[in-house]
Amino acid sequence: MIKNFWYAIYNGKKVKKNEVVAIKRLGLNLSLFRDSKGGLHCVTDKCAHRGASLGRGTVKNDCLKCPFHGIEYDSEGKCTIVPSEGINSEKDFSRFNLKHYFIREKQDMVFFWYGDGEPTKEPDTFEVLDDKNLQFSERVDHWKVDYSRVIENQLDVSHLPFVHHNTIGRGNKTISNGPKTIWLDENTLQTSANNEVDHGQTPKSGEESVIKSTNLTFKYPNMWLNTISDKLKVFAYFVPIDEENALLCLRFYNKFTGIAPIDSFISVIGKYANGVIQNQDKRVVETQLPKKTEMKIGENLVQADKPIIEYRKRRQKLKEENNRKDEEKEEISE
Ligand code: FES
Ligand SMILES: [Fe+2]
Repeated sequence: MIKNFWYAIYNGKKVKKNEVVAIKRLGLNLSLFRDSKGGLHCVTDKCAHRGASLGRGTVKNDCLKCPFHGIEYDSEGKCTIVPSEGINSEKDFSRFNLKHYFIREKQDMVFFWYGDGEPTKEPDTFEVLDDKNLQFSERVDHWKVDYSRVIENQLDVSHLPFVHHNTIGRGNKTISNGPKTIWLDENTLQTSANNEVDHGQTPKSGEESVIKSTNLTFKYPNMWLNTISDKLKVFAYFVPIDEENALLCLRFYNKFTGIAPIDSFISVIGKYANGVIQNQDKRVVETQLPKKTEMKIGENLVQADKPIIEYRKRRQKLKEENNRKDEEKEEISE
């Protein structure tokens, strides 16, 4: 994982006021709970007393209450009461305090700070999705691979005429021109598919190719936007569960008619249509080995894989920067 980033991990609308859910994300077991005022909080999903899942607990007086012996924790995981010791106990219960995680909510997503200490920035999202006229419907699908495989699949332009030969890849356009890749900022990569039927020509280079109005943009660490037109966008966030499991959370956004209920209905249809396409991908991607990608994993990449190569290079650089910072910290503390 790349440290010191906000990861989109969940659709916040799924946790109602005074409710708790247990989820596994980035290899961590987490409890997400919402207080009576709407604030969302995240702590480790393991009671400090005897290890029960707090996700089976309840939210009472804005605290998370363990289902086993009723110990309560506040929004920062601080133990507030141990019932068996009595409500007026003056004992120090700080040894029960839970690990607490920083989260944010934006665009109906919960962002989780995977980093050292307090967040140093706010989540960077696609601003275009703040458009209140855009309606969306979300489809969540479990893939048995690391999230890096799911991301790379969405940056892969040459699989279209094969995996999707009867859907979005119709037309036997097997030659991949470019693809051109550009960096919109240091953590936002844009590309577009520019495929053609093979008449014996040589594919154009990246420099000779263009970013088309229908394009793909990836934002580290785990968000992707397929801009099809001003009125239609497919957005995805790729949620790491652990190194062999991920969720593809795909949203179909549109504002075709400008009438919210109709556009919402169109989004539901669009979501199911996208599901058919994603299942075509999943069937192949789940067979890829290894399940997690790195710079050097014995693959033989080609010109058409340029967006994947760019994705891996930046990811590697970010990981190395974090390692260097960790080493510097160790040197200082020694
Ligand atoms: S295990 Fe949670 S209160 Fe005992
Ligand atoms: Fe695909």
